[in-house]
Amino acid sequence: MKERCLVLIKPDALEKRITGLVVDRLERLELDIVAAKTLAATEDLIRKHYAHLAGKPFLESTVHYMMGDYNHIANHKIIAFVFQGEDAVKKIRTALGATNPDNAAPDTIRGSFGKFDKVADVVYNCVHASDSAQDAEREIALWFKPGEVLDA
Ligand code: TYD
Repeated sequence: MKERCLVLIKPDALEKRITGLVVDRLERLELDIVAAKTLAATEDLIRKHYAHLAGKPFLESTVHYMMGDYNHIANHKIIAFVFQGEDAVKKIRTALGATNPDNAAPDTIRGSFGKFDKVADVVYNCVHASDSAQDAEREIALWFKPGEVLDA
């Protein structure tokens, strides 16, 4: 089924300058990029994005990570993409690998570029992707204005 998927390149990935490597992996999936922009996400946007983590012990560390706090990135940035195509969510999440890079297969994006800080219990997994077509629509509405997303 043709669907859309939000992808976020997280602040540490921008700092490491691996955006091109991540997008290279994603482009092999033969989906269409229908929106892209760089932004310094507000804490409010990040908390809305991760609303489903309410009550989880790792919510605060996840918000700090997305704000660039752990990497001491003063002007933290995120690049947001919308990919569109057949089974976009499944294809992208398979390419990403498991949430915790320690559990992600080595040839996946998170397995290749992410890391898990066991001491601080912070998951640096470099990239986000929507976990369903339905959630993708909710997330895209948070990160993009309607006119910013093309219909491929
Ligand atoms: P989640 O939506 O469950 O995973 P995914 O990003 O793979 O869709 O979790 C959102 C983020 O929360 C995840 O990218 C990293 C963080 N997180 C932890 O720090 N510890 C955990 O045990 C889990 C499940 C998530």
